Amino acid sequence: MLNIALPKGRLGEKAYDLFARAGYPCPELLSDSRKLLFENPQQGVCYFWVKPADAAIYVARGVADLGVCGKDILMEQSPDVYELMDLGIGRCRMDVAAMKDFADDPARTLRVATKFPRVARWWYDALGRTIDIIQLSGSIELAPLLKLSDVIVDIVETGATLRENGLESRETLFDISARLIAGRAAYQFKQQEIETLMNRMREAL
Ligand code: PRP
Repeated sequence: MLNIALPKGRLGEKAYDLFARAGYPCPELLSDSRKLLFENPQQGVCYFWVKPADAAIYVARGVADLGVCGKDILMEQSPDVYELMDLGIGRCRMDVAAMKDFADDPARTLRVATKFPRVARWWYDALGRTIDIIQLSGSIELAPLLKLSDVIVDIVETGATLRENGLESRETLFDISARLIAGRAAYQFKQQEIETLMNRMREAL
């Protein structure tokens, strides 16, 4: 049996679609219920819906053998997991953005609002820039608008949230997409099953 942690929401549904097309269906998963755990013993698979930011925790701790996790979360958490495959879904990017009229003064500490403090720290440390991180949980674009921060480090998908709040992208840190991840123990003890799954996933892609 392969235990797979899927992120709740649109990304997880897209990922499940890939698993189903690869021969690991579990139709009950898409039923309109509050259930979080679904088994299909015939196909040797068990799925659970987790918060997107928690998928790597289930995998790193060996509760899930495999998981689907955005590159943004992998960069932020550096979990002890193997990154096996780029699933090519959930594409977006991690950008620095600011109000259109913001002019940076390199001599001053830069106030950075973000949900990704480690990513922001990594980026500005490499530039040798002193920053003050303002960690928020969401609606990051509000921070520069209300002068809580100078810039944001956040996910940009269509760019609509930036545009509609008078911000613009200044730099791209990295591109993001969903990755298939595996736990170290799972990869050791279920290597055959995991490699079969990966081959079938590649065909489905
Ligand atoms: C994400 C991200 C941006 C927005 C980008 O927020 O943090 O705010 O989506 O998408 P866009 O470029 O297509 O406009 P999310 O919707 O997850 O909500 P949040 O504000 O609660 O983080």
